[in-house]
Amino acid sequence: MQAEILVLPGDGIGPEVTAAAVAVLRDVGARHGHEFTFTEKLIGGAAIDATGEPLPADTLAAAKKADAVLLGAVGGPKWSDPKAKVRPEQGLLAIRKALGLYANLRPVKPHPVAFAASPIKPHLLQGVDLIVVRELTGGVYFGDKQRTAGPNGECTASDLCSYSVGEIERVIRRACRLAMQRSQRVTSVDKANVLETSRLWREVATRVVHDEFPEITLEHQLVDSMAMHLLARPREYDVIVTENMFGDILTDEASMLAGSMGLLPSASLGEGRVGLYEPIHGSAPDIAGRGIANPYAAILSAAMLLRHSLGLDAEAQCVERAVSAALSAGHLTADLAKPESAIGTREATAAVMDHFPLPCQVPELRD
Ligand code: IPM
Ligand code: MG
Repeated sequence: MQAEILVLPGDGIGPEVTAAAVAVLRDVGARHGHEFTFTEKLIGGAAIDATGEPLPADTLAAAKKADAVLLGAVGGPKWSDPKAKVRPEQGLLAIRKALGLYANLRPVKPHPVAFAASPIKPHLLQGVDLIVVRELTGGVYFGDKQRTAGPNGECTASDLCSYSVGEIERVIRRACRLAMQRSQRVTSVDKANVLETSRLWREVATRVVHDEFPEITLEHQLVDSMAMHLLARPREYDVIVTENMFGDILTDEASMLAGSMGLLPSASLGEGRVGLYEPIHGSAPDIAGRGIANPYAAILSAAMLLRHSLGLDAEAQCVERAVSAALSAGHLTADLAKPESAIGTREATAAVMDHFPLPCQVPELRD
């Protein structure tokens, strides 16, 4: 097949890890006879420096035309002044919104080789295989933001959190469709004991599952107790669906199960095929440019791209199995290994390509 992939390296370690993911995609494409073309554009701090805007119009136009978008990370100390009018993160939020990518899939499946790097006890990590579906284009992230002066001149700030029924329905449906391919269990996370948006969320989730997915067992959890259960008994969860801000926080927490943020990919999806794929780690400015960043999360994001935007599930599995095999063989970057044995980004990327499972190396075997 032919596919146009837009690459948005962004800031910090973004360029290093997206280069790794592109190398793997090229390799998979060559092995399977696909023609992937790659275009690169600016986003985040790099775009602010070059154009003054975190999401230049030609980046968005290219994203709308592409079959899929692969993103590195945005942000860094250079642009983090809270008083700044333009910030790199605005570019990320704007592209998610403009492409209608309302569902952010963040799978967490700890690899045994990384158990030691997790602050959680290994016996709790054995068998964990969960996926968080985070609502991505609504809630407090996108609500009206204000600063007002009170009666005595004191400043007050507010961020409005709002959700419509339609916004909740579509992300619950996405989580349920995913659960139908897994164990048919969904945990919906809210704060219905306090927030009105959460009460609506719970009502809609209950109705959608009851009316449209009767096979699914739905459980509701309050976000505070979910934060606790996620660490105390992570094996009990499969598909977790929640609103934007709760999902942001819970997925950073969940990344600790995997031992390193450098292992966690994500896919942001809407109604169409075009999706945005990014590792969940940030731009890690402290290690940027040193060739030591863990590329596995970006490579696993490329696998999600193959699956969700290009419909190439077999190829996606090849990449996932190759990453897993590279980890099992002990090819570990500094976030997972002792300093003296840690490998760099390039070596880790090469290790993935060396560990493609055999059928992946024989294109004739397919179709
Ligand atoms: C994430 C990040 C972003 C978010 C930031 C960089 C705006 O933390 O993708 O989880 O909050 O959504
Ligand atoms: Mg986050």
